[in-house]
Amino acid sequence: MRKPLIVGNWKMNKDIKEGVDLVKAIVNSKIDQEKIDYGFAPPFVSIYEIKKYLNEKHILAAQNMFYEDSGAYTGEVSADMLISAGCNFVILGHSERRHIFGETDDMINKKVIQALNKGLNVILCVGELLSEREAQCEEETVLRQISLGLKGVDNSMIEKVVIAYEPVWAIGTGKTASKDDAEKMHKSIRNHIAKLYDEDKAKNIRIMYGGSVKPENIKELMSSEEIDGALVGGASLKAESFIQILKYYE
Ligand code: PGA
Repeated sequence: MRKPLIVGNWKMNKDIKEGVDLVKAIVNSKIDQEKIDYGFAPPFVSIYEIKKYLNEKHILAAQNMFYEDSGAYTGEVSADMLISAGCNFVILGHSERRHIFGETDDMINKKVIQALNKGLNVILCVGELLSEREAQCEEETVLRQISLGLKGVDNSMIEKVVIAYEPVWAIGTGKTASKDDAEKMHKSIRNHIAKLYDEDKAKNIRIMYGGSVKPENIKELMSSEEIDGALVGGASLKAESFIQILKYYE
C-alpha cells in the first residue's frame, strides 16, 4: 500500500514569521499522520525555524539544492546544509527551476544523485509544456525527463524517490489536468519505472500530481488508484485551503 503524500510548495512566498504562523495553524488542525504523510517546502531561510514546530513524521523539504559538497558556489546551498537545518526531503527539477533558471536534465540528475547519496528523500518533478502536449509528445517528454533524472540511481536508492507529475500548463494557471489525463500519465510513469527497475519498485514508488490542486479538486484526484499525493503551490499558502486539501480523506 502506498501511503498518500501531500506537500505544500511555498515557492518564493512567506517570510519567517508568516511561515511559522501558517505551519502552526496547520499542525494544530490534527491532520491524521497515520493516513497521510504531509509537510512543507518553505524558502531556505525559514527551514531551520519551521523545523521546531514539526515532528519526526512531517516532511520538511527544500525547494532546490546544489550538487557539490561545498566550495566557491556563491548563492548555492548544499545537501549537508539542508540536513543540518532539519530537511528530510528536497524538491528537484521543478518546472520553474527548469524553465526560469535553465536547469537541464543533466544538472537535475547530478542533484538527485547527490541528495540520495547524502540521505535525503527526493521529489523529482517532471512535466510537459503546453506545446509538447499539443504536439502529442507529452509522454515522451515526461519519460525522457525521468530516465535522465534517474540516471545512475540504483535499485536501493530509488526507494527514496517520489515522482511529481506536474504538467507545466497546469501550474499556477488554475487549469488542472483531468483525473483521466493525470491517471494516464501516472500509469505510463509507473510502467517506465518497472522497465528501469522492476515491478516491485514500480508498485511501491509514489507518484504525486501537481498543478492547480485545490480544495475543490483534491478528492477527485485522490480517488484515482494511480495518484498517490499532491504537490500544492498556491493553495498551500493559506491555512484554510491547505487544511481542506490535507483532510481530503474525511
Ligand atoms: P500550483 O503549483 O498548485 O500553484 O499550480 C504547483 C507547483 O508548482 O508545485
